[in-house]
Amino acid sequence: MLRKRGSAILCGAFLFVAWNAVVVLYLWGRPLSGREEREMDGGRGGADLAGDVIHMAEAFEAELEMQRKILLQIQGHRSLWEQPNENGASRVGPPQVVIPILVIACNRVTVKRCLDKLLEYRPSAELYPIIVSQDCGHAETAQVIGSYGSQVTHLKQPDLSDIAVRPEHKKFQGYYKISRHYRWALNQVFNSLSHSSVVIVEDDLEVAPDFFEYFRSLHPILKSDLSLWCVSAWNDNGRDGYVDPGKADLLYRTDFFPGLGWMMLKELWVELEPKWPGAFWDDWMRQPDQRRDRACIRPEISRTLTFGRKGVSLGQFYDKYLRYIKLNSEFVPFTKLDLAYLKEDKYKELFEKQVYSASLVKYEEVQQGQLKGAGPFCLHYSSKDGFKVLAKNLGVMEDLKSGVPRTGYRGVVSFLSRGRRIFLAPPPGWSKYDPTWS
Ligand code: UD1
Ligand code: MN
Repeated sequence: MLRKRGSAILCGAFLFVAWNAVVVLYLWGRPLSGREEREMDGGRGGADLAGDVIHMAEAFEAELEMQRKILLQIQGHRSLWEQPNENGASRVGPPQVVIPILVIACNRVTVKRCLDKLLEYRPSAELYPIIVSQDCGHAETAQVIGSYGSQVTHLKQPDLSDIAVRPEHKKFQGYYKISRHYRWALNQVFNSLSHSSVVIVEDDLEVAPDFFEYFRSLHPILKSDLSLWCVSAWNDNGRDGYVDPGKADLLYRTDFFPGLGWMMLKELWVELEPKWPGAFWDDWMRQPDQRRDRACIRPEISRTLTFGRKGVSLGQFYDKYLRYIKLNSEFVPFTKLDLAYLKEDKYKELFEKQVYSASLVKYEEVQQGQLKGAGPFCLHYSSKDGFKVLAKNLGVMEDLKSGVPRTGYRGVVSFLSRGRRIFLAPPPGWSKYDPTWS
């Protein structure tokens, strides 16, 4: 495949040079046309010879201009077959998958912050088409999106009607509309535009410099490892002080669906679309019937930051947690790293070994700064309330959805406390989540 592609390019280059040579030879050596011959015979030889040379030069120039345009077009599509290597030089490789970025927008003009960052860091327009899907029909927001011209594709969700809901759900109208919008937009991406994967970004998210690199590097494992169903850019416990700043390259598996900048494949959409819920789509994803024991990849340091304080849900959650999530700033060349450690079997074994060989400590020792050595350390919980008390006291998210704690993997929540790695974990022998823990 690689060799074939390489020789096709060589062949193309040869034809291009040969074509140039033929054109030059033709223009210089061609006999004058009947009309030109007649004009020369007519005795106005000197002036016409000069005119003829100019005419020829012009034709030559036009030919060059046309070839320049063709070359530019070829250049524009380079990224489809070339990948830069470590030295920044290009090498010929297999074609790369196109990963569209779907931006979910409504009535916030601040979508500009989201789009500006996406465009700033996007390495290739061909490999990452940006599709902005707008709900809500808000004219000012439409104008902002429109101002990006052909840099983004602007879709408009056509059904702006209110959704009939039971009386006690009236206040949740917004969540119904979000769900309807997601369904429509994802059908556009997968069915109308025929993409095979997507990264979903909401209009109040800002992305990190290596956002695109991150998703591209994890696309192959998402495809090959059927125990994975998504890749997310978000760490729910990613506040400053709770993550290791020296481990920007560290990735995890998690049983908790994080959302907030996440990738899925078409196969998953085909599975979920027929039963897509009327509202609260993210918590619905977290239910056992949808998740079916599958995990997501998430980073140690978030590759998205949310600046959407005023949203459909109230701002309290935002002020308490979300606004403190640290956004990664250093570019990690994920596509050059070996990510095989994330495959289920390997990961499970390594992770459990790490967690259950860590020194077992009590909350008081952590709290009073009595931990000896560099760690890691393990704290056990054995009930829902036990988990919540510890989580709250240690400063990590205490809520559970369908029994799964935020960022949890096989019940384990991993974070940093006073510079030391802590695993908040069920006792050894964990086998499954209890969905009644909430
Ligand atoms: C929260 C979640 C969000 C999830 C949503 C649905 C966080 C921080 N956010 O939304 O990921 O999708 O619940 O359960 O956990 N929107 C529409 N139509 C509307 C209103 C909003 O398409 O009528 C869009 C917004 O443009 C935005 C998204 O829906 O992209 C979420 O809306 P937002 O107002 O940010 O709600 P959150 O409370 O953050
Ligand atoms: Mn939001």
